[in-house]
Amino acid sequence: MGKNNKKFSGLKNWVSISTFLISLIFFLVLISPGFAQPASNSEKLVLMPYPEKLQLKEGQFRLDEKFYAGGKAEYQSRTFKAIARFMFRLSGRTGLFFEQDFLTDQQINNQTKFLYQFNRPGLLVPNEDESYFLEITPEKISLRAETDLGILRGLETLLQLLSADSQGYYFPCVRIEDRPRFTWRGLLIDSCRHFMPLEVIKRNLLAMATVKMNVLHWHLSEDQGFRVESKVFPKLQQLGSDGLYYTQEQIKEIIQLASDLGIRVVPEFDIPGHSTSWFVAYPEYASGPGPYRIERKFGVSSPVFDPTEEKTYKFFDQFIKEMANLFPDPYFHIGGDEVDPRQWKENPKIQNFMKKHRLNNEAALQAYFNLKILKILTKYHKKMIGWDEIYQPGLPQDIVIQSWRGTQALIDGAQKGYQGILSNGYYIDLYQSAEKHYLNDPIPVNSPLTAEQKKLILGGEATMWAELVSPENIDSRIWPRTAAIAERLWSPQEIRDVDDLYRRLRLISIQLEEAGATHLKNQPMMLRRLARSYRVKSLEILARISEPIKGYARHSQGKVYTSLTPLTRFVDACYPESLEARDFKKLVEKFIQSRDLRQAEEIKDQLRLWINNHEEICQLAEKSPIVKEIVSLSEKLVNLSRMASEAVDLILENKKADSAWLQNKFKELEEAKKPQAECQIGIIPAVELMLNTLK
Ligand code: ACM
Repeated sequence: MGKNNKKFSGLKNWVSISTFLISLIFFLVLISPGFAQPASNSEKLVLMPYPEKLQLKEGQFRLDEKFYAGGKAEYQSRTFKAIARFMFRLSGRTGLFFEQDFLTDQQINNQTKFLYQFNRPGLLVPNEDESYFLEITPEKISLRAETDLGILRGLETLLQLLSADSQGYYFPCVRIEDRPRFTWRGLLIDSCRHFMPLEVIKRNLLAMATVKMNVLHWHLSEDQGFRVESKVFPKLQQLGSDGLYYTQEQIKEIIQLASDLGIRVVPEFDIPGHSTSWFVAYPEYASGPGPYRIERKFGVSSPVFDPTEEKTYKFFDQFIKEMANLFPDPYFHIGGDEVDPRQWKENPKIQNFMKKHRLNNEAALQAYFNLKILKILTKYHKKMIGWDEIYQPGLPQDIVIQSWRGTQALIDGAQKGYQGILSNGYYIDLYQSAEKHYLNDPIPVNSPLTAEQKKLILGGEATMWAELVSPENIDSRIWPRTAAIAERLWSPQEIRDVDDLYRRLRLISIQLEEAGATHLKNQPMMLRRLARSYRVKSLEILARISEPIKGYARHSQGKVYTSLTPLTRFVDACYPESLEARDFKKLVEKFIQSRDLRQAEEIKDQLRLWINNHEEICQLAEKSPIVKEIVSLSEKLVNLSRMASEAVDLILENKKADSAWLQNKFKELEEAKKPQAECQIGIIPAVELMLNTLK
């Protein structure tokens, strides 16, 4: 205790010294012309990811129809297309009829107001230069970069800087020097548990580009489906996909679009486990007798490749050769996660093989398999990437380990000299908050890694596993939360103000939608289908304050999900994180501090809205049976709202609550926490806070 006190008084001294220093710096900043402005100005900017260095300056570049972009970029090159897209997006946002005609490859003249310049085309490989320099003065805009990838990243910043006032549109004068903290900023899309048509991939690539993400990790084979056309082994997609697969032409289309956007495409073929769909066509490569059918259920299944047969590797040699040609990325993801050893244990031939080769356990057998696969990858000039489980001593150091089980695996790998990327903490299928993902750092401040080891942490990936997502709602599971992850992976580590994240996230969400993401517009569509009506206001009110229950709890609520069951219910239309609930909690926090009557009224207006909403939900349920399951959810919201309303009055009167009353309310609160229709009500933490205030 004494120690703590000392620490605290030391802290207090430090606070007063630092307050003085901060004031001094602030003063110096104010008097130095052209340097960074006070934070309040730049706070108004809606940039995500936030740049490494930004100086906001006096003045504006006013946008009008005489806005001409110019620079040197080969016809139909990456930059050429990006500038054309930029002009369309800018005119679309502003309604301005730009005078500029289609671009040419040498477009600089005395009308040019926006000049772009770069030295060389960037390579789509890790550690490529993506930095850029952007300067906006009242007269002109200049964007410079070493590579065209830098130009792309800078164009997104420029678009995000677009501002407006009553006079029209403008760009604030700024000087930005920016580059990513991490080179690998990915999104995994699982096209297997549920097939995702081409347009899903395309629109999500476009959305990724707006927040400077640069890797699409494409999960293409699973127990539930084999999703790529193989011309060498066509039975793979013919028997393993229900006809839901990408042709090679379609894959090339995606790779081209991704390349235009400066995004790498890393294919994942998950082996030796998670592989039932392969064996529908080729049972001879499995470790058990078969026959096999496409797996409909989720979880870990037992079919696994037979690592003891040379024919398995002959098959992979041909398969990887074909896919290595199709996918240009230097990395090839072999999965390797969650191998179920049952088939290996039950097969005497495999057990004998293990004895003969002194493979002491199934992990050693998987390691043997991986080394054989590694040889094939190397032969076709690919580097290996896989989940934690692939790690074993003796692997070459240019492989990448993707950590899904925890940051410790990443640390262990780096300490042994291996590159890694983080996905643990970025599992966006768990319905966690943007805040939680945002504060998850691949290299936390207390990391035990040395400076050299830190360089081995290449970045991270958000993982959109598709057990419970459909083409309709996948975007709402990805966006806008993944933009928070994009910022974590791009921006300086110190940028971690959560309130400011949410302020920007709401607005960035609209830009993600402009880019093509359907996270906002599909909710009303899904609600209309539920209601069988255009009148969905009541569903919308309930949906905006409800969240799917967290983690994988939806799988233990009684319904058995498969890749064939519907994902059209209320829970599927709810956003993973209720921003209304967050706002409500903020309001409650403010009220508890202030005990202000107007804030109390604001809270009670909100509560009345939720209470009055119930009647229409009940009416809807009468004519739309699919809605019936949420009547009780709405009831929970009513009960919580009534409880909150009483609490507001007591707090306003500065009273402590009667202990029997309070006990009763806490009991009701516990009841309200129980999931209903696989949802939870978002205001529970705020109500709990109010009750605790009354203790
Ligand atoms: C994983 O989540 N099994 C990689």
